Amino acid sequence: MKETNRLISPSLLSADFGHLANEIEDINNSQAQYLHIDIMDGVFVPNISFGFPVLKYVAKLSTKPLDVHLMIVEPDKFVNEVKALGAEFMNVHYEACTHLHRSFQRIHDAGMKTGVTLNPHTPVELLEDIIDEANLVLLMSVNPGFGGQKFIENTYSKVERLRNMIDRHNSHTLIEVDGGVTPDNAGKLYKIGADILVAGSSVFNTPNRQEAINNILNAK
Ligand code: DX5
Ligand code: ZN
Repeated sequence: MKETNRLISPSLLSADFGHLANEIEDINNSQAQYLHIDIMDGVFVPNISFGFPVLKYVAKLSTKPLDVHLMIVEPDKFVNEVKALGAEFMNVHYEACTHLHRSFQRIHDAGMKTGVTLNPHTPVELLEDIIDEANLVLLMSVNPGFGGQKFIENTYSKVERLRNMIDRHNSHTLIEVDGGVTPDNAGKLYKIGADILVAGSSVFNTPNRQEAINNILNAK
């Protein structure tokens, strides 16, 4: 298998919210391709992050396209709000969408790219009949809700099985991995077929964000 282009999407969840403009500026000045935005509702996940009144300003400040990860029930209700941010990807959880195909249609109709996110226990095989409609699949490598958790090892097998499915379908779906990504696991994830790695604490909990981003992008 030919290795994919290595991409990174730093997660704003681990940023210093007291200095949000500076934190976003650091990412603007880095090699990162996207900015990952984690929206939580306290229902789908046991935590609440930030909402649209804050994100309106984040969207204005970021020069990187937004990769929006909705950890909420009934994500379809917010298609217009996510579109208003100018988001490139709207990622909805498989476990939160009874009619995922309909959710994808709404996201596409709003002019955004579709993403479906799988919790660690949800098998990638469930995507066989929708993979062609997904611009991106986001594999959770921690239980969603918090930054700074330990990477779950079964993610490697999920990346491999999903890569295989996408290649069999001749589809252009991107594979993104989210949670516990560090320079220690990033190299292997890229090599086995991940396209985009989300990194929160391993980028924002370091003084030099650009170096931290490059350490993931160039990981062995
Ligand atoms: C967790 C979020 C992640 C989180 C990752 O629910 O979806 O995007 O910010 O943080 P780290 O990289 O610290 O695991
Ligand atoms: Zn996320």
